[in-house]
Amino acid sequence: MKSVINPGCSFPKWNRTIILTAVFVIIFNAVFTKTFAQQKPWATPKEAQIIKNPLAGNAAALAEGKKLYVTNCAPCHGDKGRGDGPAAQALNPKPADHSSAAIQNETDGALFWKLSEGRNPMPAYGKILTEQQRWELINYIRTLSKTSKK
Ligand code: HEC
Repeated sequence: MKSVINPGCSFPKWNRTIILTAVFVIIFNAVFTKTFAQQKPWATPKEAQIIKNPLAGNAAALAEGKKLYVTNCAPCHGDKGRGDGPAAQALNPKPADHSSAAIQNETDGALFWKLSEGRNPMPAYGKILTEQQRWELINYIRTLSKTSKK
């Protein structure tokens, strides 16, 4: 496409302005998303919420879950799941408090889905742990409720 005003240049001035504005908007958007978007509530798709826990009530799975939690999750979420592990201070957003009512009110399926998907800075454990290990962890998270004696 040749410009009538400036035949040597294939982009007229106003066109360049539009391109520059578009580039600016894309960069701004990327920075904005990285800085603020993760503060948004973390919604779970409906189909994930209703996934059933195949290990619900399984005591052996719970013991395994505890071991996995201490090794993999406690550095961020803390030993008691309060979101106060040694790495937590440096993180934004802060690790979830697994003992809170908000987390305990979520379904096993929803927690399993979030654990599997991850969200920066939390890794996607779907790629790191087996399905069995992830359900074992959900069983352990259930014992971290503030009202639980365990
Ligand atoms: C690098 C630090 C880090 C590690 C390690 C980590 N998490 Fe997280 N986790 C986070 C952060 C930060 C969030 C909050 C993310 C958000 O809200 O965007 C989170 C959120 C979650 C949530 C979602 C809570 C909710 O409903 O909003 C679950 C479930 C969870 N973590 C489980 C685990 C388990 C289980 C492990 C161990 C296998 C683990 N996390 C390891 C940092 C971590």
